[in-house]
Amino acid sequence: MDYAGHPCDYVSLTARGLVLQDGAHGLGSVAGTGTTSAHGNVGSAFSLHPAKLITAGEGGVVTTDDSIKDVIVRQLRDHGRSDGLCVAAGFNYRMSELHAALALSQLRKMSRFLARRREIAAKYVSELAGRVELPAHADGHAWHLYVIRVEAKDRDSFRERLADRGVGSQVHYRPVCCQPRYRAQFPKSCDRTPIVHREWQRIVSIPLSHAMTDAEVDQVIRAVREVI
Ligand SMILES: Cc1ncc(COP(=O)(O)O)c(C=O)c1O
Repeated sequence: MDYAGHPCDYVSLTARGLVLQDGAHGLGSVAGTGTTSAHGNVGSAFSLHPAKLITAGEGGVVTTDDSIKDVIVRQLRDHGRSDGLCVAAGFNYRMSELHAALALSQLRKMSRFLARRREIAAKYVSELAGRVELPAHADGHAWHLYVIRVEAKDRDSFRERLADRGVGSQVHYRPVCCQPRYRAQFPKSCDRTPIVHREWQRIVSIPLSHAMTDAEVDQVIRAVREVI
């Protein structure tokens, strides 16, 4: 998974075994080979949720260069049918024509959206470096999120003070082991992931969207500088 848009090292990962890429954050990222966002050797899945780089309103896309998997995925999304025959137990995961039309029009704007995200991320680096812990940079980053880190004890008040200045923020994410459903089933899993447990309490996603104006970007920078 290309967290926040930071491309994984797929050359090493795929050399070690089978990789199914969760590309929900990775669309537009360029990893090592410099070719494409799709790097899983089993396949790659992309989200078209409205918060993502491009949207279909909801839904997503699966990519593979394997013709057999292509047939299987197409069957599974359509009640397990192939040429009118039900050959597997499948689902109704078909994308509607309306959603697809929106996705296609968004696809044409993707490079523009990506370029604007990269421009805003570069501005955050130049204006916030040395003031707050910034995310690692990588060539080919898609900047789905811009996640800074503060002291865990200050994180919530930091967010409140940003909000007082009209700047919303989010936490991506509370780890799965801390989610009530999974903690109930695996009560010891948080003890086994101390770094995840420590770091998630420090993270804050500050606003980053292609739709932000320069004035809004400056407002975020000013607010972070004031409250840090
Ligand atoms: C990393 C990651 N994987 C998967 C998903 C799920 O995508 P969707 O809601 O389109 O199923 C999300 C959604 O935010 C995500 O951030």
